[in-house]
Amino acid sequence: MSQQNQPPKKIRVGLVFGGRSGEHEVSLTSAKGIMQAMDPARYEIVPIGITKAGQWLTGENIHQRLIEAAAGHPVLAHTTAVAEPSPESRLALPISETGPLDVIFPVLHGPFGEDGTVQGFLELVGLPYVGAGVTASAVGMDKALCKRIFEAHGLPILPYRVFLRRQWRSQPETVLDVCEAGLTYPMFVKPANLGSSVGVHKAKNRDDLRTGLADAAQYDRKVVVEQGIEAREIEVSVLGNDDPIASVPGEIIASREFYSYAAKYIDNSSELLIPAPLSPAQTEQARQLAVAAFQALDAAGLARCDFLLDKADGRLYLNEINTMPGFTPISMYPKLWEASGLTYSELIDRLIELALERFDDKQQSKTTFDVDQAE
Ligand SMILES: Nc1ncnc2c1ncn2[C@@H]1O[C@H](COP(=O)(O)OP(=O)(O)O)[C@@H](O)[C@H]1O
Ligand SMILES: [Mg+2]
Repeated sequence: MSQQNQPPKKIRVGLVFGGRSGEHEVSLTSAKGIMQAMDPARYEIVPIGITKAGQWLTGENIHQRLIEAAAGHPVLAHTTAVAEPSPESRLALPISETGPLDVIFPVLHGPFGEDGTVQGFLELVGLPYVGAGVTASAVGMDKALCKRIFEAHGLPILPYRVFLRRQWRSQPETVLDVCEAGLTYPMFVKPANLGSSVGVHKAKNRDDLRTGLADAAQYDRKVVVEQGIEAREIEVSVLGNDDPIASVPGEIIASREFYSYAAKYIDNSSELLIPAPLSPAQTEQARQLAVAAFQALDAAGLARCDFLLDKADGRLYLNEINTMPGFTPISMYPKLWEASGLTYSELIDRLIELALERFDDKQQSKTTFDVDQAE
């Protein structure tokens, strides 16, 4: 019997999208783009939605059902405790209703998706998935921890201070003094674990700093205050596992004073320059630093590394790493790959391959220990 006439078995991809973060809508657009770009001869796509309230959906018309579920829902930073569904019903994740899946593409941005929580669930159930593992996702999401890792690897970052909400609320004047002793205005205040610039403030004086800290501390128990600079915003896409490669750099020209929530999602008029108009040396430096940041974090699959380029002296600072960057066909991450010679659908193929490769690599680790040979 020849098997040659049999079409190759399709890879069943669980595409998880939506989610409990402020980037819910971006995720919907990313998922739509991915669905349209994946070769139906090679893949069977199984859509899996997560509502803003955290309910998992499988079956037909997921996009439509998510949009309906979101109607009337307030703009999210993220959701933690919501009445519906209950934590118990969230445990009954309908992933078991989908039939066997070969790989999961969790195209979820921000808290409860990009931060290691979904990755931890996928580790528990033993499924390969696209993107960084639990640790890199969690650390990548936490601006305070991420800076510590970058520092430890000698990567250039701007001076910063970290405060707990408890410190801010009990000794606000001391917190302000510590900031003023170590940093100069303008300063940037950010909740440690968020995204989309939610809760991010540019403080030009002590009053601004006070207002910014008060607001940022509403979103997180940990807040970062950072040296502000007049900066160009440079981004580099990284792709790979143990041997990652970097795209050409791109640049964002923000439509507001900085790349705020409004500039990202309301104005829709921020501009992307691809490739970024940089000198060859700056281009090379950005690409090398992006790969170094990816490796410092032990990321996997994909990440977008964002830089601030000091307009005053041309120095490049790492700002943050996003382990599940926006993935719509017009997002920076895939656009940078397109400019580097990899189309949107080739990029998706490669990410699926990398997910399977990394899963295999993990399977190779010994999982038993022979007590008789213990020293
Ligand atoms: N230290 C800084 N100096 C100048 N601009 C900054 C600084 N930190 C942040 N910004 C501006 O604020 C935006 C959002 O900050 P970022 O750290 O990227 O948070 P998010 O994770 O929400 O994207 C940046 O894209 C940039 O425009
Ligand atoms: Mg950012």
